[in-house]
Amino acid sequence: MPVEKGVRFSFNRAFYNPKAEVARGLGILAARVARPLSIFETFAGGGTRTLLYAKYVRPETHHVNEGHRGFLCELLHNYLENNLPTDGLRITVSDFLTDGQRFVCEGFRYDWVDLDPFGSPSPFLSTALSLVRPGGYAYITSTDTATLSGKRKGDDVRLYGVALRPWKTYAEMGARALVYSVWNTASALNLSVSPVFVYYEGYAYRLLVRVMDRRSPEGVGFVQRCRKCGTYSVSVGAKGTCSVCGGENEVVGPLWTGTLYDRDFLRNMLDEAKTLGWRKEEKALRKMIEEIDVPMYYPLDSFRFGRTPSPSRVVKLLRKAGFKASRTQFHPGAVKTDATVPQILTVLS
Ligand SMILES: C[S@@+](CC[C@H](N)C(=O)[O-])C[C@H]1O[C@@H](n2cnc3c(N)ncnc32)[C@H](O)[C@@H]1O
Ligand SMILES: [Zn+2]
Repeated sequence: MPVEKGVRFSFNRAFYNPKAEVARGLGILAARVARPLSIFETFAGGGTRTLLYAKYVRPETHHVNEGHRGFLCELLHNYLENNLPTDGLRITVSDFLTDGQRFVCEGFRYDWVDLDPFGSPSPFLSTALSLVRPGGYAYITSTDTATLSGKRKGDDVRLYGVALRPWKTYAEMGARALVYSVWNTASALNLSVSPVFVYYEGYAYRLLVRVMDRRSPEGVGFVQRCRKCGTYSVSVGAKGTCSVCGGENEVVGPLWTGTLYDRDFLRNMLDEAKTLGWRKEEKALRKMIEEIDVPMYYPLDSFRFGRTPSPSRVVKLLRKAGFKASRTQFHPGAVKTDATVPQILTVLS
């Protein structure tokens, strides 16, 4: 019987993914900072997140939606086994695609919406964002890393409205494509979003956005990679030529090119993680807080050195030379920097 953060789960047919523990933990820590009075959770499965919200966040209203009736029996069983209070709990068994829109039309709005589907969240985004009370938050999962890594030509445009390439730096490119797509969907609803964090787990992205009813400073543009010198650049409109060496650029976009992190919010989450003694989440938060706001990164094994230097050493050398530099959650062997590739090579020579 799995035990996660003091909650005991017993599942028969429902889905339990031990690999998602940190992602669930980050959602709970963020909700403890945001203090939502009402939560709407869809694709709830057997209720792993549901029980954690009930134990650690305790919203006044907790609306749980799941398409499979049998899973909800297991959810309720787990709820009672853990002696969690059921006042404020509302459960609906229905297809989110049809019933979610009905909830929107009936005027339901929540401070926190949790959307945890298999695959792409794209078909559900518009309804999920419409259910958020402006000023509230949406916590969105995408396990569609195949499309977001640029490996499924056509699906990138169809599902996310972006043209991607299977770059070595696909992990951050995918994160920025997902944020762009959520931002674009929100814009069509006359809403705006800004990312609080995006957490990359290899097989999934977890994106927390704040939803607002007014326009926010925008961070949308294109990312280029020079075919000749390998330098990444960002611009509002696509640029075909590298400004460093004049080489031909490969372009992806549009992408979210603004910051991926609200660091003040993340620091508050870090305090919560310390209070609760949640070490794995603490480690993930530190990585995100320390990342610099320069889109994309350079995997060090893509440079031809005799022996690949350690990313920490390269970060130190770049900073000493006056550049911004940090490691990144998206690749353990890479550095982020505002230096161009020729500048990186000079620093390391
Ligand atoms: C990724 S699992 C959810 C895992 C769960 N949130 C957790 O943390 O353990 C996706 C769930 O969505 C449910 N589902 C699939 N399509 C649905 C739909 N259209 N409406 C509502 N639920 C759906 C499935 O039955 C499944 O339980
Ligand atoms: Zn170049």
